[in-house]
Amino acid sequence: MNFHPNRTITREEPYSICFVCLGNICRSPTAEGIFQHKVKERGLESYFYIDSAGTGAYHVGEKANSTSRSVAKSHGVSLLSRARQFILDDFLEFDLILAMDSSNYANIMKLKSSTTAAQLKMMRMFDPQGYNEDVPDPYYGGINGFEDVFSILERSSEELLNQLSPHIFNE
Ligand code: 4NP
Repeated sequence: MNFHPNRTITREEPYSICFVCLGNICRSPTAEGIFQHKVKERGLESYFYIDSAGTGAYHVGEKANSTSRSVAKSHGVSLLSRARQFILDDFLEFDLILAMDSSNYANIMKLKSSTTAAQLKMMRMFDPQGYNEDVPDPYYGGINGFEDVFSILERSSEELLNQLSPHIFNE
């Protein structure tokens, strides 16, 4: 299932992606960190603006969860974000909003106006091993859940970047 961004990606107008979960301390900061890492590895930093947010406000201002950070670190990825809540203006700021699960998707959809240009999709539309499934919430579970989330987000981010790359216009 191929994704089509709403425009060509250039340095003048970097493509902006907001990863969204509930707390913005586990799944979406991990997605943000992994995707940013991959963009850097491919030397494409100037073509992207990457951020994350939570539909809930419980953890606003906090660093990513310590287990999320240590799991990411063990895979060479730094998580540097501070939690913030998703806001209405994000529909104007971002080209693509990627929800981690169907509950996040439904909550964002409730806010979405029909006039926004932003595209809203499930993160796992890019997962070859679980199309449009939820990224499971690891918050109340053990370390295996965090490792599982990392693997899901690693392969989804790889596919996301693969699908966006042909839309980059190299001046
Ligand atoms: P996240 O995980 O949505 O992946 O950041 C959660 C973090 C906190 C809570 C729920 C999920 N919470 O209920 O506080």
